[in-house]
Amino acid sequence: MAVNRPSDATAHWWRDAAIYQIYVRSFADGDGDGTGDLAGVRSRLPHLVELGVDALWFTPWYLSPLADGGYDVADYRTIDPAFGTLAEAEKLIAEARELGIRTIIDIVPNHVSDQHTWFTEALAAGPGSPERELFHFRSGRGPDGALPPNDWVSEFGGTPWTRLDDGDWYLHLFAAQQPDLNWAHPAVRQEHEDVLRFWFERGVAGVRIDSAALLAKDPALPDFTAGHGPHPYVDRDELHDIYRSWRAIADEYGAVFVGEVWLPDAERFARYLRPDELHTAFNFNFLACPWDAGLLRSAIDGTLAEHAAVGAPATWVLCNHDVTRTVTRYGREDTGFDFAAKTFGTPTDLRLGTRRARAAALLSLALPGAAYLYQGEELGLPEADIPRDRIQDPMHFRSGGTDPGRDGCRVPLPWSAGAPYAGFGSTVEPWLPQPAGWASYAADLQRTDPDSMLSLYREALRLRRTEPGFRDTGTAGERLEWLPTPPGVLAFTRADRLICLVNLTEEPVEPPAHTEVLLSSGPLTDGGRIPNDTAAWLRG
Ligand code: GLC
Repeated sequence: MAVNRPSDATAHWWRDAAIYQIYVRSFADGDGDGTGDLAGVRSRLPHLVELGVDALWFTPWYLSPLADGGYDVADYRTIDPAFGTLAEAEKLIAEARELGIRTIIDIVPNHVSDQHTWFTEALAAGPGSPERELFHFRSGRGPDGALPPNDWVSEFGGTPWTRLDDGDWYLHLFAAQQPDLNWAHPAVRQEHEDVLRFWFERGVAGVRIDSAALLAKDPALPDFTAGHGPHPYVDRDELHDIYRSWRAIADEYGAVFVGEVWLPDAERFARYLRPDELHTAFNFNFLACPWDAGLLRSAIDGTLAEHAAVGAPATWVLCNHDVTRTVTRYGREDTGFDFAAKTFGTPTDLRLGTRRARAAALLSLALPGAAYLYQGEELGLPEADIPRDRIQDPMHFRSGGTDPGRDGCRVPLPWSAGAPYAGFGSTVEPWLPQPAGWASYAADLQRTDPDSMLSLYREALRLRRTEPGFRDTGTAGERLEWLPTPPGVLAFTRADRLICLVNLTEEPVEPPAHTEVLLSSGPLTDGGRIPNDTAAWLRG
């Protein structure tokens, strides 16, 4: 079953890898209890080999009360028993590697779970104790300290401060169950460096760094509205020193990083990608870009330019476990403002969305750099409506119920149309309900249908792997060049006479002269023209 991957031949596999994100809880259930697990992933490795991905990125699989889907880690060296054991994770890493697939894990350095021993010990030790110095404990303001210590706002809404019975407040940029660590404390740095080694020793090839630009805080924790100087907690200069030491450790193992860095400022973003820091970072401008040729082109150009400045490859992502699924998003009438945001009941046209998502897949997979796919994207899954009484995401509750939260993109995958729960593997109701019609997206139906989303992704990934023109090894000549086109049409060449054309106009367009079509996201017209909302890969 092992496929010979050209990317294996090079130490720079990560530069142009196709990386598949696994949200373990919803991927496949191996023991039938309603929650996805490592046994489920191991049983579905053949799907990932057939799909043709180079690496898997696992969202957190560690011991966790799951107050934020595992981004509240209670112990980095233990796999959550709901998912399996450490021995099983080691087996999975090795098995995948045998099949030519590398493993990337998720490290969440900004915070831990409130069940982490560091935090439970800090609570027990009381105000003023050295244990509390690992976190950000403060007295409140106002009479009796009854007001939060500053005016910051949680990423999930509301104040990021929670008060304890002993009077102290603690900081949590996310949910109250996710206390922020104090990165100015040497023990915090030491512990994370040890955790990196722990996983690199187990064969992990890379680490995704959660909320990578938020770790460092101004020690005075000043009001946000105090307003001058650097931001009190976003993108502070101290972070670069942390990532330089991480890089030195990764280099010992030949491992790589991908940072989750949401920053609008291109120059500040690129600083994380300097040669002695992170190898790559997520580029969210492309993900957040509406379906508009001009805007897409500037998102692509801006991304390539900011990466070229530091010699790092770009990453291309259309969806992940935090944003609205692609086919739903692209099917909205207004693809503009708040494109990726979660909303209740925004009308969507799934046929249109699917057509565009197929075209977007060919666009993103043709760009130079690494491509990320989120589980279920290859099945064309839509965002699911979760009945309000089944919603689990803390984001929903912290918004006072106005935001549906992120569960709609985290629904258990459909594997077999004829099996209970669409073949997810559960013998009881899965942790999130699958909507009506979910079985029609099942992988087994799509595998044999040449027009399915799965067939499109498999063929695109096969071409991307086998056509040298799609490579990005960091040498000159691998960048893209735009071809002159009418407004609304995007077309660029890569090396080896490869061309990607996307038609976002209403009318079909002629492919460039003397080209042959390698793959298209939908049928061409009788005369061989490329219809609207369709992409084609061609050879000139
Ligand atoms: C990142 C994760 C998100 C999580 C948050 C807090 O943004 O992608 O799922 O809720 O960090 O860890």
